[in-house]
Amino acid sequence: MITLAGQTIVVIGGSSGIGYAVAESSLQSLASHVIIASSSLDRVNAAVSRLESSAKSAGVSGKVSGRVLNVKDSAQIKSFFDEVGEIDHLVFSSGDALTLSGLKDLDLDSIRGVYDVRLWAPTICAQQAKIKKSGSIVLTTGSVVKKPSQGWSIVAGIAGSVDSLTRGLAVDLAPIRVNCIAPGFVNTEMWDTTPKDVLEKIFAEQSEKLLVKHVASPEEVAEAYLFAMKCAFITGETLHVNGGQTLV
Ligand SMILES: NC(=O)c1ccc[n+]([C@@H]2O[C@H](COP(=O)([O-])OP(=O)(O)OC[C@H]3O[C@@H](n4cnc5c(N)ncnc54)[C@H](OP(=O)(O)O)[C@@H]3O)[C@@H](O)[C@H]2O)c1
Repeated sequence: MITLAGQTIVVIGGSSGIGYAVAESSLQSLASHVIIASSSLDRVNAAVSRLESSAKSAGVSGKVSGRVLNVKDSAQIKSFFDEVGEIDHLVFSSGDALTLSGLKDLDLDSIRGVYDVRLWAPTICAQQAKIKKSGSIVLTTGSVVKKPSQGWSIVAGIAGSVDSLTRGLAVDLAPIRVNCIAPGFVNTEMWDTTPKDVLEKIFAEQSEKLLVKHVASPEEVAEAYLFAMKCAFITGETLHVNGGQTLV
């Protein structure tokens, strides 16, 4: 079995949701050092404690570190990678709140910043990270890249750009591999701002509709990130992990 033994993994967005599950799964896959980063000190510290407990329970000895990094600030990204030094894999799963609805009503000039965290930041990270030639980058897009919902044009634009960026980076950074994961509905903290009754309705509807009959756990989706890191023969690909969402 291929493991991440002896490898250092940076997970930007690792304090929560999909990124946290990737950090935890990397430790269980014997990574020697997992470094998580996100913008909130409290969330980073809490996640590091949870990861340390999880690693202890799993009987694995990988080291866990946390760094505060606001990926909206390109100078912070550069200093972060200068401090972290050479790594094996970079996973990027940061995402801030998206409160876009409808297209016609949006003041597009006022929301130019929505591209910063999900598109511009991974581009800068890919440029600045010091990744070993045998290593990889795994980015994050979403099922919206293939199947936008009503009112999601802007998000589809970001997601499609990340999908395309993946292939560009795979060519530019070779032999470092660059892949991307496109999750469907995943039950993470990202949904915490949605009112509970609305969320329950969305998840119930999706569980009924999806071919696999459930919304994903972050751990299920993390498997795809682990595969992208471990399989040395995949690059320039977007893996769709959406429970059949694009077929229904
Ligand atoms: N969950 C889903 O259903 C789903 C589906 C498709 C695609 N996605 C995409 O997958 C990605 C991860 O989603 P998730 O569900 O794991 O969300 P999440 O649980 O909300 O996690 C988002 C992470 O991004 C970090 N973050 C936010 N703003 C940041 C900033 N300025 N700088 C650095 N880090 C920042 C957050 O930490 P801090 O708050 O500490 O900064 C957190 O660690 C997002 O891009 C999301 O759009 C999610």
